[in-house]
Amino acid sequence: MIYVTRRERFCAAHRLVRDEWSEEKNDEVFGKCSNPNWHGHNYVLFVTVKGNQNPETGFIVNIKHLSKIIKEKVITKLDHKNINLEVDFMQGKMASTENIVIGIWEELEPVINALGIQLHCIKVQETENNFVEYYGN
Ligand code: NI
Repeated sequence: MIYVTRRERFCAAHRLVRDEWSEEKNDEVFGKCSNPNWHGHNYVLFVTVKGNQNPETGFIVNIKHLSKIIKEKVITKLDHKNINLEVDFMQGKMASTENIVIGIWEELEPVINALGIQLHCIKVQETENNFVEYYGN
C-alpha cells in the first residue's frame, strides 16, 4: 500500500462560541478564537490517500486530478469564507479544527473512493503549533 499526500491551503474566518455561555466563559474556554468580531486563520490542509500503483503510470492517483477534486469539493467552499456562516458542510457545528477535518473527510471520501483509492487521513493545521488529524472514525 502506498500513501500519497497533497497539501492545499485556505484562509477563512471563524468564531468559537456557545451563545448560552457568558462572554467571560467563552473567553476562558475558547480564548482569542471567541472574539465577537471574528478572526481568521491561514489553514493548511493535508489530504492523504492510499492505494495500489497503476502499473502503467507508477502512480496510485494522478496528483493533479486529486488537487482538482480537493479544490472543487472543499477549498472553494472554505477559502476566504466565514466558516460559521457560509460553509454548507459546517452549518450547525462548532467551527473547531476537529469539526473541520470531519467535514472535509465527509466531503471528499465518496469522490476519492470513486477513483478506486481510499482516503487515509485529513490533517488541518490551524496555526504553526496546532494541527488535527482524522482517520475516518
Ligand atoms: Ni481561531
